Order: sequence, then structure tokens, then C-alpha cells
Amino acid sequence: MISMWDKAEQAAAYVREKASLGDRRLEAAVVLGSGLGDLAEEIAERTVLPYRDIPHFPRSTVEGHASRLVIGRLAGRSVYAMQGRFHYYEGYSLAEATIGIRVAQRLGIPVVVLTNAAGGLDPAFEAGDLMLITDHINLLPDNPLRGPNDDRFGPRFPSPVGVYDPRLIAAAKRAAAKAGFSCREGVYAGLQGPAYETEAEVRLLRMLGADAVGMSTVPEALVAAHGRQKVLAVSTITNVLGKAPGTIVSHEEVLEVAEKVRSRLAALLKGFLGEAW
Ligand code: HPA
Repeated sequence: MISMWDKAEQAAAYVREKASLGDRRLEAAVVLGSGLGDLAEEIAERTVLPYRDIPHFPRSTVEGHASRLVIGRLAGRSVYAMQGRFHYYEGYSLAEATIGIRVAQRLGIPVVVLTNAAGGLDPAFEAGDLMLITDHINLLPDNPLRGPNDDRFGPRFPSPVGVYDPRLIAAAKRAAAKAGFSCREGVYAGLQGPAYETEAEVRLLRMLGADAVGMSTVPEALVAAHGRQKVLAVSTITNVLGKAPGTIVSHEEVLEVAEKVRSRLAALLKGFLGEAW
């Protein structure tokens, strides 16, 4: 069986060739989550690579995800933007679902920007808020680092402490302030989904110390930590849980709010890329 190292190497070689990267290193990998993929349209000097053409890439099956990799320039930085990600609930193992981060590692990309749509748990939050993730709670039933360790990627027992890099968070806060708004900050709980949470689970998650909940991001951050990359992660709070009993969350509502906040998120990400890290 072909190893993840070889898969990532082959995919990276394909990307390097198609985007004529030569020995150039890209500066940031950006993962665009539900309803946020449009940001990739603003990338200049772009090379667009559908996931189906990239060796070993799975296809994302979720509505709101475009399933392509866009290489180019955004806000003065060279970027590797994933328009759509893979989730555990789609049926992939977490090692498969995070191949995009492994490929970014093989391309020598030091910084990963993760975006997602999330449910708010802090009652002070409002739908449409942006939250910078300061830490996470992994409640997924798997870990992308499970299985034989490949020391070429990173150590057997990596520490995720500091992966949500305070310097990157500070840069994002500066970018938000310059654009005239502020972000929330908090802890993201990653669950497997695809069902949304029950009201009892929402109460439990709040007791555990989570400020937001979603179905992604944690696996990618763990793989980034393993490969010694730094992460900036931003949640678009599309709905606030636990406020009105009997409220039902829908994917349509999640996409609708994500769409409304899109321009603000775009301003945050572009401003962040324009800051010194
Ligand atoms: N729960 C889990 N994931 C989500 C939610 C939610 O309420 N909203 C957007 N993604």
C-alpha cells in the first residue's frame, strides 16, 4: 500500500508542475469551508486544479464546496487555497481527509489558515460573528495521526499546544481592527457530525468549555501541528445554540449566514495575509 508520504509527494509534484512553482515555496495554505469558497475567485495569477485531477485527492461531496485547489496570489502572498475540504462524516478516514495539509507540507508551506462554519455556544455570540480559534477540543472518534508514525512528517507524540499561533491571532486581530470590526476568540469543539447537536449535547459542550462547535478543522490542525506548521483558524458563527429551545439548525441557514458574512471574512483573510507574521 502506498504511504501517505508518497501520496503527498506525488500530489505535490503534480501541483508544482501545473502551477510552475519550480523550487518556489508558497507562503500560506488556506482551507475555505462551507459557503466560503468564493474567496478563491479573488486569487490572481491563478492555476485552478480540480481535486479529481490531483493524484490521491478524494472528492468533497458536500453542497457549498467547489472541490478544487487554486494556486496564486492574494493580498501580496502566494497561496494554496483549498475550495472545499473533506470531512469525517463523508466516510473518509481522518488521514485521508487531511491529505491537502500533507501536500501543503510537502510544498514547504509554513502557515495554514483554516476557515469553517460553526455553531456558537457562548451565549454572548451572535449569528454572523467571526471567532478566532485559540484552542480546540477533539471529540471526533478518530485522530489523523493514528497508525504507524512517519517520522519524515513529524514526531510520534506531537504537542498541539501553540498550534493556533498567538502571533498569527494577533495579526488577524490587527487586520480586523484595520477593517473596522472585531472578532470573538474561543475554543472550538470538533465533532464527527453529520447530525447537528441535541439540546443536551449543546449543554454538555458548553460545560466542557467550548465556545463553538463544528465538524471540521480539528483534524487539519492536528496534522499541521504534526508537520510543524502554524495555524490561524477562523469560525463563522452561523447560528447560536442553546438560546431558544426547539430551534432547528439547517444546512441552508448555515450557508445563508456564511454568505452574508463572506465579505467580512474576506476582508479579515486578506488583511491577515497583508500583515507581517
Ligand atoms: N453545529 C455543528 N456544526 C455547525 C453548526 C452547528 O450548530 N453550525 C454550522 N456548523
